Amino acid sequence: MTTTVVLTGIQWGDEGKAKVIDYLASQVNIVARFQGGNNAGHTIVVGGEKTVLHLIPSGVLHRQTVNVIGNGVVFDMGVFLEEKNKLQSRGVDVGPSRLKISELVHVIFPIHRLVDRAREKSKTKIGTTGRGIGPTYGDKAMRLGLRIGELREATSAKEKLRLNFEEKARWLKDLGETEIPNFEEMFETGLMQFRQIESHLIDSSDYLNAEIEKGSRVVFEGAQGTLLDIDYGTYPYVTSSNTMSSFAACGTGVGPKSLHYILGLTKAYTTRVGDGPFPSECMSGPDQKAGEWMAKNGNEFGSTTGRARRCGWLDLVALRRATQLNGLDGLALSKMDVLSGLEKIKVVTAYELNGTRSEIFPNFGLDKVKPIYEEVEGWGALQGARKENDLPKAAQEFIRRIETFVKRPVVLISTGPERDDMIVRKKILD
Ligand code: GDP
Ligand code: IMO
Ligand code: MG
Repeated sequence: MTTTVVLTGIQWGDEGKAKVIDYLASQVNIVARFQGGNNAGHTIVVGGEKTVLHLIPSGVLHRQTVNVIGNGVVFDMGVFLEEKNKLQSRGVDVGPSRLKISELVHVIFPIHRLVDRAREKSKTKIGTTGRGIGPTYGDKAMRLGLRIGELREATSAKEKLRLNFEEKARWLKDLGETEIPNFEEMFETGLMQFRQIESHLIDSSDYLNAEIEKGSRVVFEGAQGTLLDIDYGTYPYVTSSNTMSSFAACGTGVGPKSLHYILGLTKAYTTRVGDGPFPSECMSGPDQKAGEWMAKNGNEFGSTTGRARRCGWLDLVALRRATQLNGLDGLALSKMDVLSGLEKIKVVTAYELNGTRSEIFPNFGLDKVKPIYEEVEGWGALQGARKENDLPKAAQEFIRRIETFVKRPVVLISTGPERDDMIVRKKILD
């Protein structure tokens, strides 16, 4: 029986994960996020109304779905309350019975954001979202972090946080930062926020294991994408968590055998926001027009920071690597409609490094490879297609090319931003 599915982005994020999660959420009981924080920007469009989520799982718009924020997430209490209130004012039920948070999430405090932003002014800048993600995961690994459940014992939590705060404040002062918050005020605000959140706290491991055993259907929602993974992404231009499917288990407290189907989502082209190597980028050079086409028609601006996303062709070498790393069973494909109207479409099928051709995605020196392209025919309009036969022949051919290269089936095709713009080739859940 396939009752659980993991969805991960298999590029550099923003593949359209929220849309696919929202689609899957209509068939499941639970949606659980397992990593990242409010560096994510997840967009769902229903009847022209756009919802952008940063922390709350993308199943929230379906009444019957319980949403869980797993232990692998880093958690900004202020952002959560703001997001919750916004949804509540639109009539969405976001009470503790359908929105649950692991008591083990590590808390992002304002000082973490300051450290993140100060680092971004230095030579070690990588183009983060400035949300304090790296410093919070850093504290977790350094064993300095505060898990939200610790705030139940306010006095000891305060003392623990004070030491960490003072260390960070000294470092910030050394860098010449002057706007350092007052510790007492920061803690009191945090504690007030915690009191409003406390009733949402659970042990996500107990909850999810019991539900899965009962036969409840669960979608594990990934944030960011495989090429931003802290271990296998384009380090150091990565995020600070493991973004791959295997972390869905660790980041929620279930065993790996509870992950039944692994689905990876890619756009029909590639985008990246932030710094770092991107072999098939075409924002300049001979294919600049195509890059600008993707940016404009795909509306490629970050949902979190509003930054322009860099655009380029689909990279099948990277996709094959991501297929392996995630152990994908199948692929979902988004945004083919954005390429409609381009005469020729390119895909990367190999790299050239020092005159040698290779089909391997390298662990080092990605900035030095030259992409080798294969050209395929473009296609006409397909936005909103709901049946496979509605796809132009050239678009079907493009999908086959991906499938033969990565040796996995494309099971879902998103053909527009709207919830119902979707072609289902295979039903994933029993
Ligand atoms: P996520 O971070 O992976 O959830 O993706 P984002 O929400 O950051 O960015 C994806 C953007 O593409 C959003 O604006 C979606 O509404 C939009 N989108 C998703 N799928 C499609 C699609 O198939 N076609 C088009 N044109 N837009 C899409
Ligand atoms: P979703 O879930 C795209 C990128 C940042 C930066 C790097 C590190 O919407 O796909 P961080 O703030 O995490 O320390 O930044 O990772 N990044 C994303 N890019 N989509 C995201 O999330 C991202 N989350 C982080 O731009 O390059
Ligand atoms: Mg996004």
